[in-house]
Amino acid sequence: MRRTIHADALPKAYEFVSEHVGSKPNTIDLFCGSGGSVSSWLRERTGEFLGFDLDQAAIDTFRKNHPDATIKNQDSVEWLRTLEEGSQECSLIFIDNPLSIYGENGAYCEHFETLENVHKLVGHSTTLVVNVVPRPYGATSPENAPWMARRCDFYGCDDASDLACDKLMEIYTGKFAANGISVKASRYISRAHIDDLDYIYFYCFHLSRAS
Ligand SMILES: C[S@@+](CC[C@H](N)C(=O)[O-])C[C@H]1O[C@@H](n2cnc3c(N)ncnc32)[C@H](O)[C@@H]1O
Repeated sequence: MRRTIHADALPKAYEFVSEHVGSKPNTIDLFCGSGGSVSSWLRERTGEFLGFDLDQAAIDTFRKNHPDATIKNQDSVEWLRTLEEGSQECSLIFIDNPLSIYGENGAYCEHFETLENVHKLVGHSTTLVVNVVPRPYGATSPENAPWMARRCDFYGCDDASDLACDKLMEIYTGKFAANGISVKASRYISRAHIDDLDYIYFYCFHLSRAS
C-alpha cells in the first residue's frame, strides 16, 4: 500500500479561501490536532484562530507552536450542536475530521454531524473547507461495514463506496440549502491517494446565509 499526500492541496484550498474572503481570515478549526499535518500551515496564514481538539498532548503542541491561537479542549461537534445560531461567525471554517466512525459509542462519523450545525457559523460571506471521501479505502472489509452504512444514510444511497465528485458537490449544496445557506462558489481538490485510489479530497465552499 503506497500513500501519496498531495502537498499542494492545502495551498490550493487556501487560494480558494483568499479569493473569496481575502487574506488572514478569522478561522474556526473544528479538529486542529497538534497542527502537524495541516492546521499549523493554516494558522500561520489566518487572522484570529479558534481551534478544538480532544487530545491534550496534541493541544499542548499546538499551543506551544502558536501561543496566540485560542485552542479549546472540547468536543467541537457538541459545541456546534449547542451553539446559538449566528452568535459566532467567521470567514473560514476548517473541518479536518477523523475518517470513519469515532466518539463515545460511535456517536460520530466523518464530518456528518458537524454538517447538521455548521450553518450556525455562516454569515454573509464564509468559506468552508472540509475532508470529503468519495472512495473510502477498505470499503469492502467486513469491519468497515458500519462505517459504510453510516455513509449510505448520510449520502442517501445504497452504496457509498465509489461516489462521483460532482454528485457529492450536488449533495452538499442541497444540504446547505436545506439550512438556508447558498453556495456561491465551490471547488474540490485531491488531497491524497492510496495506490491509485483518490480516496480523500478537500471540498471548498463559499457560502452565504440566504437573506
Ligand atoms: C485528522 S486529525 C486532525 C489533524 C489536524 N488538523 C492537524 O493538522 O494536525 C483529527 C483530530 O480530531 C480530534 N477529534 C476527534 N474527535 C473530536 C471531537 N469530537 N472534537 C474535537 N476534536 C476531535 C482528534 O483528537 C484528532 O486530533
